[in-house]
Amino acid sequence: MKQPTGHKKFILAIETSCDETAAAVLSYQKKAGGFPDIKTLSSVIKSQTKLHSKMGGVVPEAAARAHVKWIRPVVEKALFASRCPHHAIDYIAVTVGPGLIPSLIVGVEFAKALSFALNKPIIPVNHMAGHLYSPFGRISSKLSSYQVVKSLFPMISLIVSGGHTMLVLMKNINDYKVLGQTVDDAAGEAFDKVAKMLMLPYPGGSEVSKLAADGNPKAINFPRPMINSKNYNFSFSGLKTAVLYYLRDYVGNGLKPFPTKTKANICAGFQQAVVDVLIAKTLRAAKEFIAKSVSLSGGVAANQILRHDLNLKSKILNFKFFPSPLHLTGDNGEMIGIAAAFMLASGYKPKSYRLIKADSNLEL
Ligand code: KG4
Ligand code: ZN
Repeated sequence: MKQPTGHKKFILAIETSCDETAAAVLSYQKKAGGFPDIKTLSSVIKSQTKLHSKMGGVVPEAAARAHVKWIRPVVEKALFASRCPHHAIDYIAVTVGPGLIPSLIVGVEFAKALSFALNKPIIPVNHMAGHLYSPFGRISSKLSSYQVVKSLFPMISLIVSGGHTMLVLMKNINDYKVLGQTVDDAAGEAFDKVAKMLMLPYPGGSEVSKLAADGNPKAINFPRPMINSKNYNFSFSGLKTAVLYYLRDYVGNGLKPFPTKTKANICAGFQQAVVDVLIAKTLRAAKEFIAKSVSLSGGVAANQILRHDLNLKSKILNFKFFPSPLHLTGDNGEMIGIAAAFMLASGYKPKSYRLIKADSNLEL
């Protein structure tokens, strides 16, 4: 059955919450039933990885300066590549939090200036909502609204990034609540810290997983913190300390050589411990809330073992599995535009730039 659709609208989306200066242009059309039809027309990401790798982590002041340098060229390039002229943009979506305040302010103030100059309203987007909605980009145009809503929800969403680890129950496209989150380090943060202990370059997540590919995940049995706890919270700081103690005991007085195989086994054992905890809690939530599907997003969603194991175990239990496409796992402007399209589809009224401000502790 052909469904009635709304007018096509264009969204310029801006993301500067951490160390990626990113912008994207998307078209969006509301379909009956609420699930929007979204098309990405362009997406530009200027990563600051090189800049921060010299310092071994993100330096907020340096990140903000780099955003100031790159925000205009990145937005201009996204507009040019989309072939959508400034005046055709209907809404400006921007990440307002959570994140590093000096970084957020650059994107938010740039969006406000643009909103003032073009006389277009702003859609303030929560960065975590960007991750949450990122798996929906590619399925939005494939199925009808009704099919999607009937076959997806309730959904359990696992969001794993450098700053956050969260389990979210989505009852419908705009009806969600956080079931649990990390009480200390986020999963990505733990990957980064273990990488630092092993003297691997920043950002460490992908480096740890690369080395882990040559290791045996069963060689070292690291703890799986809170795997059996009754709630949906996570804790990765104890696991990180277990790796530290293992290294200290192994290296001892510094005389013992440190073979590459041992490094690989540490990475594989640590990675498997993180993955096991994440999957156990996600699937327990999916069973408890009688979910139809499970989704996965955030920077750590690029981890192949996590994608593979969660896919396999979800399917065994009859849950559909929707991982964020790889190019949308790390921070990007496209996911901010996708989240904005879902906000619009759910009746959100865009705001005047006068009401918009950055909030580093914004909650989902
Ligand atoms: O979502 P994201 O780009 O930024 C935040 O919002 O924090 O996530 C970045 C995090 C970093 O901690 C990085 O080490 C981790 O994602 N990461 C990975 C992998 N690729 C990136 N962690 C594990 N395995 C990977 N392959
Ligand atoms: Zn992120």
